[in-house]
Amino acid sequence: MFILIGYATTEGQTAKIARHVARRITEAGHSAELLPLAEAGGLSLAPYDRVILASSIHLGHYHRALSDFAAAQATELPAKPSLLLSVSLAAAGHEAEDWRALDKIATDLAAATGWTPDEVAQVAGAYMPSRYDIFRRFVMRRIVAAQDPGADPDADHEYTDWPDLDRRIDAWLDRPSA
Ligand SMILES: Cc1cc2nc3c(=O)[nH]c(=O)nc-3n(C[C@H](O)[C@H](O)[C@H](O)COP(=O)(O)O)c2cc1C
Repeated sequence: MFILIGYATTEGQTAKIARHVARRITEAGHSAELLPLAEAGGLSLAPYDRVILASSIHLGHYHRALSDFAAAQATELPAKPSLLLSVSLAAAGHEAEDWRALDKIATDLAAATGWTPDEVAQVAGAYMPSRYDIFRRFVMRRIVAAQDPGADPDADHEYTDWPDLDRRIDAWLDRPSA
C-alpha cells in the first residue's frame, strides 16, 4: 500500500511521531509519504491507498492546517481508509474527564470538516520547556503538573509510548480496506 502521512506540529513531537510511523509502515513492506499539512494545499489523494493525518492539540484544538486540509479534501478523504493521530499531553494521563475532552476534540473535527476517520489514536506527546516561550511555559507548567505531578517542570520529557504506537499502527495496517 502507498500511505500518505500528513502532519501538523508546533514543537516537533508530532513530526517525530509521523517519521516513526513512516518507518514502521516501510518496515511492514508498504510505502509512505510524509507531508507537512501546511504545504498540502491542492494535493490529490488519488495516488494513496490510505491516509494518516496527525496533529498535536494546543489549547484544546488541533492545528488549523489539519482542519483546513480535511475540509478541503471533503470529497476524496472520506473515501480512503484513514487514521487520525491525535497528539496531546492529556493522553499521557488517565483522567476520564480529560479523555472525554480528547474524544470531543476529535468529534468536533469530524463535525466541522465532514471527515470521520476510521480510527482515532490518542497519542501522548512531549513536555518541552526548552522549546517554549514564556507564555507556553506558563500554560504547560499547569498542564504537566496535572498530568504528571512528579515531573520536573524545567526538564524536557517525552511521554510518547513508542511500542504502543507501533501496535496501533500494525493493527490499523492489518485492517481490511473496505
Ligand atoms: C501552548 C500549549 C498548549 C497546549 N495545550 C494542550 C491542551 O489543551 N491539551 C493537551 O492535552 N495538551 C496540550 N499541549 C501539549 C501538546 O499537545 C504536547 O506538548 C504535544 O507533544 C505537542 O506536539 P507538537 O510538538 O507536535 O506540537 C499544549 C502544549 C502547548 C505548548
